[in-house]
Amino acid sequence: MDSIYKPSGDACKTFQSDDRLSPGLERIYITPTKLTYIDGEMGELRYMGYRIQDIISAGARAEEVQYAFLNGSLPNREELRRFAELIESGYDLPGYVVDAITSLPRSSDAVAMQSVAVASLAALSELTWSHEKKRDLFAVMLGQMSAITAVSLRHAMGKKPRLPSPGATYAESFLAALSGDRPSEMRAKAMNDSLILYMDHEVPASTTAGLVTASTLADPYSSVLSALSALRGPLHGGATEGVMSQLMEIGDPSAVERWFRENVLSGKRKLMGFGHRVYKSYDPRALAFKSMALELASGHDTAKLLSTALALEEVGIKSLGEKRLYPNADFYSPIVYACIGIPYSRGSYTAMFALSRLAGWLAHFDEYLSFGGRIMRPRALYVGPDKRPFPPLDERRSAAHPRSVVGWYLAVELLQLLRGKLWLPVSREHSLPV
Ligand code: CMC
Repeated sequence: MDSIYKPSGDACKTFQSDDRLSPGLERIYITPTKLTYIDGEMGELRYMGYRIQDIISAGARAEEVQYAFLNGSLPNREELRRFAELIESGYDLPGYVVDAITSLPRSSDAVAMQSVAVASLAALSELTWSHEKKRDLFAVMLGQMSAITAVSLRHAMGKKPRLPSPGATYAESFLAALSGDRPSEMRAKAMNDSLILYMDHEVPASTTAGLVTASTLADPYSSVLSALSALRGPLHGGATEGVMSQLMEIGDPSAVERWFRENVLSGKRKLMGFGHRVYKSYDPRALAFKSMALELASGHDTAKLLSTALALEEVGIKSLGEKRLYPNADFYSPIVYACIGIPYSRGSYTAMFALSRLAGWLAHFDEYLSFGGRIMRPRALYVGPDKRPFPPLDERRSAAHPRSVVGWYLAVELLQLLRGKLWLPVSREHSLPV
């Protein structure tokens, strides 16, 4: 993966010191929430007051947690049964949605496939956010997203579409649709827990992007579409893929120190799966994914991925720990996905993250609007030229060829002439010495 863009330069620093600005919206609270609490200093994550570790160790089903996010409290047995039925009604995707996915090239990014499917559902959705219909619709959307993700990942593998079937848990139905086999108890449990671990995380970039769209009262599908697009980037959910390709590039624990020195210490790249805007200690989701990976990894490939990741974590903390950078959720989740049997293709692990996060996104959009959230319309601080006359077309200098570049070009031409060779760089193909 290419190195990650890092803003720098004096101009950037000048603007960052203006106290009206908050680059990256750091420390800006855009909404109150009752959903998720993060203590970044202590490394604690709670959903509606329940510690993430307690939810996992209680053996909760992902549907229980999805219900709690969408309804504000945990379901009783009957409520859970009805909720599961609504989810299952979403499994039967309209044919045009399946066709939209499978009409894309197989090598397409899996999150882009999800986006195309969600956009096709948005096409027939009511144009505005409907408070009356939303609760049932949200559950149906969870079912649709499971089916969309299974069809997308199967398409990437060159396999025919297969939709999840009713009668099993959300995790089991998804895995069965994906592979065609009934998953083992261990794989189903790991899938279930990974759904919970990624289900919500307050207002990261994807949730915020979706909130901006929801704040215009756009329909839920369109709001999810915005969230999906923001999730794809390598600084956010795309880091899952970045971590996997990083581990595969390193290849072996013995190569970790050298790779780290040449790529991260040299400043060429960021260490994928490390660092977080809020956590200044170990991300509790990373701890949970790590212990799942330790339990699940066996066999040559996944065991080697894990031992490489463990060695990378050690070197990473030794060197970046002083900046308070530790593994985040995306550091070990790719290994868990590999152990569960999720095929690794372009964007497939980020698509798994999206599947898990849908309930959290919808819960935040709904909460924002129910708190009377206004349309999001921030300001930008103008730092461009002062008022000036509009120049006629013929009097404008080319921005693409400012004077210094033209001067440089002429100097090179002159040098070539002096060397007896005329060089005419008209285009790339023609820029050979003649
Ligand atoms: N590797 C090396 N240096 C890093 C890293 C990293 N992964 N992350 C931060 N730093 C350095 C950064 O260069 C900066 O150093 P300095 O102060 O010397 O300029 C300092 O730490 C502060 O970093 P920042 O970029 O200002 O922090 P941020 O809050 O703007 O960015 C982040 C947070 C998660 C985007 C960043 O840590 C990062 O790019 N990590 C790698 C990508 C990644 O793993 N993303 C997943 C995020 S968590 C789960 C999810 O949402 O998907």
